[in-house]
Amino acid sequence: MSEAEGIDYQRWMVLSGGAAAIGAAQQTGLLAAVLDGGGSARALAERLKLDARASACVLDALVALELLRVADGVYAAQPWLGAVLQSIPGGAAHDSRLWNHAPDFLRTGAPLLHMDGSNDARENAYRLVTQALGRMFAGAARELAARIPGTPAQILDVGCGSGVWSLQLAARFSAATVTGQDLPKVLEESFLPRAAAEGLSERVRTLPGDMQTVALPAAQYDLIVVANVLRLEPAERAARLIARLVPALAPGGALLIIDAIAGGTPERERARALYALHLAIRSTEGSVHLPATLSGWLAAAGLSDVRAIELPDWAAPTGALLARRA
Ligand SMILES: C[S@@+](CC[C@H](N)C(=O)[O-])C[C@H]1O[C@@H](n2cnc3c(N)ncnc32)[C@H](O)[C@@H]1O
Repeated sequence: MSEAEGIDYQRWMVLSGGAAAIGAAQQTGLLAAVLDGGGSARALAERLKLDARASACVLDALVALELLRVADGVYAAQPWLGAVLQSIPGGAAHDSRLWNHAPDFLRTGAPLLHMDGSNDARENAYRLVTQALGRMFAGAARELAARIPGTPAQILDVGCGSGVWSLQLAARFSAATVTGQDLPKVLEESFLPRAAAEGLSERVRTLPGDMQTVALPAAQYDLIVVANVLRLEPAERAARLIARLVPALAPGGALLIIDAIAGGTPERERARALYALHLAIRSTEGSVHLPATLSGWLAAAGLSDVRAIELPDWAAPTGALLARRA
């Protein structure tokens, strides 16, 4: 860029200053206090033993970033922010700890958590967070269910967690039966309670065990859902999982991959890249497999007619690929 074009200082200021203001508000408890009822800058500063002038500056910056609103000097969170932070798996403080680990991650390569560790570690981690994931993905699951072609009757949900995606399909297709596949405690504590809460207990089954080894019936399912699971596996294990699921599809059945794969616009690419960093900070080998890579694995496993199902921008980086067995 030449000097005549001007130097876009503002863009840098918004990103670097925004990250600093958000980080400071999280680390000091200021953001949590605003979410927990809010107040004036002076009252919040007194309660948290912060400097009043600095608190007002940070709060005003968060208003300017459209995270907070202020009326008559009283600061409150924008409703969407409250909803997001309440649905973040592990809670907002946990999320802040993850991001704060970024400098150590950069220096050492060591993640803060190993959510892709042994099956025991996965079970203990995911029995706690899948209910929150279910709340987070509920809107996107409704959008996706409306876009699924055909009328699948037998649905398998691999690594189902709360079952948010497949239970939404069961709500749309009233004759469908959903088999939730996951580690036992996740099924008991997350999938079955959600199915009951949605009045779908009569139409769900469970298949507990390791998705890489659990026995699967041949040619059984019209639709197999693999949502936000392949990211936990390195490429070779992810491709192997897809290949072992294909024989369980009935002829004409389809495999649906849902993952952090949405791209093609600057906003979606940004959401995907930042998600990939977040995942790397909490896993040993986790990575976002790109649509072209996934399409190659689907084709190699014998599926055809691979196509993306578009979700609204607000769902990014979540995207979906559907492929069919001949
Ligand atoms: C990121 S969560 C996604 C849950 C759900 N599909 C969703 O999209 O909300 C990953 C899920 O995969 C499950 N999982 C991880 N490793 C597994 C394994 N080896 N066998 C079965 N399930 C596994 C976890 O217990 C967890 O429920």
